[in-house]
Amino acid sequence: MNREDTINLSKGKIFMTEFNSKIKTIEWVDNYSKMVDQTLVPYEFKYVNITTGDEMFDAIKTMIVRGAPAIGVAGAHGVVLYAQELAKENLSRDEFVSKLLEKSDYMASARPTAVNLMWAVKKQKEIIENSTSDIAGIVEELKQNGIKLEKEDVEINKKIGDYGAEVVPEGATILTHCNAGALATVGYGTALGVVRSAFAKDPTIQVFADETRPRQQGARITTLELTMDGIPTTLITDGMCSYFMKKGMIDMVVVGADRIAANGDTANKIGTYTVAIAAKYHNVPFYIAAPLSTIDRSIKSGDEIVIEERSREEVTHINGKIICAPEVNVINPGFDVTPHELITGIITEKGILRPDYNKSIAEAFEKERVLL
Ligand code: MRU
Repeated sequence: MNREDTINLSKGKIFMTEFNSKIKTIEWVDNYSKMVDQTLVPYEFKYVNITTGDEMFDAIKTMIVRGAPAIGVAGAHGVVLYAQELAKENLSRDEFVSKLLEKSDYMASARPTAVNLMWAVKKQKEIIENSTSDIAGIVEELKQNGIKLEKEDVEINKKIGDYGAEVVPEGATILTHCNAGALATVGYGTALGVVRSAFAKDPTIQVFADETRPRQQGARITTLELTMDGIPTTLITDGMCSYFMKKGMIDMVVVGADRIAANGDTANKIGTYTVAIAAKYHNVPFYIAAPLSTIDRSIKSGDEIVIEERSREEVTHINGKIICAPEVNVINPGFDVTPHELITGIITEKGILRPDYNKSIAEAFEKERVLL
């Protein structure tokens, strides 16, 4: 598609001119964090500069930045922002450390389900606790670590993509749910990383993208990313997946993850579980694509994963317009947990993990590479 193209809709225009999948979703610049405002996609493509820790907390909570790996990096940047602020307060080193640890815990609580946020903040806390530097030195170490996590994310996603491409059948139609793409990470994506690597080898593959209600990340973000890369994409609504599976039109499912328990149970965007059940029934392979930082070995099963409850307005409204009886009851869990029995494989940067997941996940943390 021509980068200057705009797509006319009945209501307004979608501006696609600035987006390409090589952009960085989030990036540390000098002394602030610069990120794409994902609440505006696909209507506007705009960067926002996040200059304080509290602004970062809000950016994560309100989903200006979203997607498990992206909010991990955002959390790490948020700790640097708090460190910069506290460094100006004339505190003793001990006071600085104790206040920064408190602020770090607060940052980690911005959203409860994606473990990458807690994981990245924990990495920063290890620096705060173990550093022997003075206050300025700690701030610098945290900054360098934030930048390192940013860089590693893209490298990891490319590895996930390349391993995943090996299990994509020739000419496959791949179903995905939500957005596990460049915008859910620093770049390239996890599930969409698999699609990108597979497409580079075999341009006859195509994607079916679930709309992903209530926030429509599949429609708003995934279709934008894929069409800008020239990857044939068909948008469907969430309830349609079994219809197309029955017709034999879906060859595999690849989705991202927000938290994976030690036994392989996987939390991802609400609706993923339904797709996995439909895939099992129709004998369609169902893969998770995620970095090892999404695996939470401290929990035995998905029953222990905290599911984020989001606002009623996300369900009752679309684009600011109410779509239901105003007083109706609403429940809005942001994620569900797909039981490990429904998962064909977990594609990681160390290879593809297969059942028994308790065993293969443990191995992945011990070995450089696991069998495909
Ligand atoms: O609520 P979101 O948009 O942050 O949820 C995102 C998802 O569920 C993604 O599938 C998951 O984070 C994986 S992103 C590589």
